[in-house]
Amino acid sequence: MKLHIGSGPVELFGWINVDNVPYDGVAVLSDVRNGLPFTNVDFIFAEHFIEHLTLADGLQFLKECRRALARAGVLRLSTPNLDWVWLTHYKPPSEMTPEEELFGCLEINRAFHGWGHQFLYNLHTLTRALQTAGFATVQSKAYGESDIDELRDLEKHERHRDLPGAPSVLVIEATGHRESDGEFEQILQPYLRDAVTH
Ligand SMILES: C[S@@+](CC[C@H](N)C(=O)[O-])C[C@H]1O[C@@H](n2cnc3c(N)ncnc32)[C@H](O)[C@@H]1O
Repeated sequence: MKLHIGSGPVELFGWINVDNVPYDGVAVLSDVRNGLPFTNVDFIFAEHFIEHLTLADGLQFLKECRRALARAGVLRLSTPNLDWVWLTHYKPPSEMTPEEELFGCLEINRAFHGWGHQFLYNLHTLTRALQTAGFATVQSKAYGESDIDELRDLEKHERHRDLPGAPSVLVIEATGHRESDGEFEQILQPYLRDAVTH
């Protein structure tokens, strides 16, 4: 069984397309913050989805993916890369023209808050979150590339010119099982508390 989470209008054939909006092709209309009604899943794919969840909901979603996957199941995620966002949208003020200051301000705020974005990850934080959710192995992948036939050529979302060492989009595959030591969740506590909206 193959789940495509946050599928939006992108219907993948042979996959169960899941979204909380009834786009054409959505087979399971569900807010996945309430859990995934599946077990023994072979593959989960979620493109440009996790950044639409708060940090707390994102971590819970990753745990739920680990629970729903079969032992050898694989999760493939793609999400905007925070490193790329700040490197391309902002510079020290002394190096910016007034025009760059204006557009830097507008664009970096849009990257964080536009399109319903809740939280942007860099590779280290996404990896720590996946490990905390119980995945033993987290591997970076190039857009569209995979050693696994079912996970190749899946990404459809627009992307931007990558920087050396900072692709515009993080693509990872996570698999295996590990116990969480809880350290990462302890580090997150004040940030989860302060993320509550007022
Ligand atoms: C930016 S779109 C990505 C659509 C598609 N994956 C793509 O790459 O073009 C994010 C999708 O996640 C869905 N979504 C956001 N929060 C959700 C939730 N809590 N449960 C299920 N779907 C959700 C939205 O409805 C939207 O279709």
